[in-house]
Amino acid sequence: MNPFFRFINSSVGKKIIMSFTGLFLSIFLVEHLAGNLLLLKGDNGEAFNAYAMFMGGNPVVRIMEIGLLSLILVHIVNGIRLWWNNRSAREKGYGSYKLQENTTLQSRMMKLSAALVLFFLIVHMRTFWVHARIFGEHDIASIVYAKFQQGIYVIFYLIALVVVGYHLRHGFQSAFQTLGLRTKKYYSIIEFVSVLFWLAVPAGFAFIVVYLYFTGSSPVVSVQ
Ligand code: HEM
Repeated sequence: MNPFFRFINSSVGKKIIMSFTGLFLSIFLVEHLAGNLLLLKGDNGEAFNAYAMFMGGNPVVRIMEIGLLSLILVHIVNGIRLWWNNRSAREKGYGSYKLQENTTLQSRMMKLSAALVLFFLIVHMRTFWVHARIFGEHDIASIVYAKFQQGIYVIFYLIALVVVGYHLRHGFQSAFQTLGLRTKKYYSIIEFVSVLFWLAVPAGFAFIVVYLYFTGSSPVVSVQ
């Protein structure tokens, strides 16, 4: 078999792919948070809309966006393949497979959180991305302001952000483990970086959601 296919089909290859795609997706979240902070500028979303227009119109950014969506897809498909492999390996190894005995609570929680993050992403893309990229809406900030005037969205986002934080926390732990970086030497720097990603980034998004709910200063448009 071609070495590339041998690598992506091996268990260690799948784990490495999971780690790298997860780390790149986490970096996207930092950029996304920085862009979203423009919503707080108090200029009725002008700066945010200018940023969103730039992101939507620049061909280099559009190519990066295709890269981002492909990374999300690879992360999901590879995660399902890894889960399937582990499951088959356990079935072969133990004869009778008992879920409770053979999977740790943490790995089950990772699968559950992954499914919930995916559900959140589908709702999120339908709520904002479809308006920005498919319907070509120019005033995307007003849509964001209108959505976060609704308590149900605020609660949904806050719960989703806790789940995102959980998924990132354990994702970071296993990524660094897989890449052999969870050693004494790097322990404190890795702990610091992962706290930034799993705690500070979701907390930043949560702050935006709560801030917009309580200030709600911008014109409210009707959104389906
Ligand atoms: C305060 C919370 C958030 C707000 C207000 C927000 C807002 C938006 C908006 C307006 C868009 C579409 C326009 C654009 O691409 O700029 C978007 C796209 C997107 N958001 Fe969010 N977002 C939030 C949190 C999140 C979180 C927590 C995640 C992931 C866990 C996420 C993942 C994405 C992705 C993957 C896209 C598509 C990006 C692309 O294709 O360029 N967002 N978001």
